[in-house]
Amino acid sequence: MRIRKSVEELDPYVPGEQPKDRSVIKLNTNENPYLPSPLVKKALESFDPEFLRKYPDPVFTELRARIAEIHGTVPERVFIGNGSDEVLSLACRAFVENDEAIGSFDPSYSLYKTLAAIRAVSFVPSPLAPGFAWSDPVVKGADGKDVALFLLTNPNAPTSVQYPKENIAEFASRFRGVVLVDEAYGDFAPYSCADLAAAPDNRNLIVMRTLSKSFSLAGLRFGYCIGPADLVEALYKVKDSYNVDAVAQAVALAALYDLQWMRGNAAKICRTRDDFAAKLRARGWDVPKSSSNFVFARPPARPGVDAHERARAIFEQLKGRHIYVRYFRGPETGDRLRVTIGTDSDMESLLCALDEIEPARA
Ligand SMILES: Cc1ncc(COP(=O)(O)O)c(C=O)c1O
Repeated sequence: MRIRKSVEELDPYVPGEQPKDRSVIKLNTNENPYLPSPLVKKALESFDPEFLRKYPDPVFTELRARIAEIHGTVPERVFIGNGSDEVLSLACRAFVENDEAIGSFDPSYSLYKTLAAIRAVSFVPSPLAPGFAWSDPVVKGADGKDVALFLLTNPNAPTSVQYPKENIAEFASRFRGVVLVDEAYGDFAPYSCADLAAAPDNRNLIVMRTLSKSFSLAGLRFGYCIGPADLVEALYKVKDSYNVDAVAQAVALAALYDLQWMRGNAAKICRTRDDFAAKLRARGWDVPKSSSNFVFARPPARPGVDAHERARAIFEQLKGRHIYVRYFRGPETGDRLRVTIGTDSDMESLLCALDEIEPARA
């Protein structure tokens, strides 16, 4: 028995904790605190087990028509995956030769680097400008490998910052590879690149979406992307035949017919976010303007205390109080906490806990 070297040496992606204790205030994995649409419950209750006897639709006829309608495009330009993580994995399979590289900003979604390692291709990180702002992506690795696929989270995670659309369009127009704009948090942001992906003259830009965040369906596993028809066709060629099960298809379709519900929840979350960010800033925290359902916040400095140790200590103390947020080690991320936006009451509990941990200084 033999395990591939790249897998043996793999630093696997570490998802946020999923505690069994339901009393925990869970602000660590960017889930939605509100229930999915009532149409979802109805779809689950009325699902006929007869449909489980047969395989599900492998080409998602109804779903692609609905998603195309939402984005003003055609079904040939829509691909559907088992969560957007699957779409990412398939893009790495379809668009990158063995002697090419995968690129992304640093920091960004840490799964990207792991996906490159699984494919055993180079990963090229691109540094950001101060304030986690846009900087021209690096498209060649130090080893001379060309980046064939640039994975561009927008708004970025864990920074929460959204890059200007013009920068993305300009980059894509001169990039020889594929640009995949990961809009996992797009419904919490002021703008989207979906229209760029749907444009008839687009040759290399894909926009990816998930139902996990704004639609409150992380447990379902459903993501999709839109882009040029030839790239979409390539993704269909490399996917498993039945990558999204019949229940997920029925439930996703119901959710996609209730955009109003999703938008209402997203608007509530944005209001809570802006209020929470203002309260953290009033306590001296540095909070970049968020276009997501989370903030990436740095506690105020304390003389003689290392900023990374300080953020880590607050993370642990919150956990001790059954409030879970996320901490990412690393030079660019280790002095901050990523806090998912929950209900108003969740955020008040968090602020109370912070005030207990750190009573206001005279
Ligand atoms: C930037 C980004 N992309 C993709 C995903 C994965 O989403 P999904 O649940 O659709 O696999 C996440 C999940 O946290 C994410 O943060």
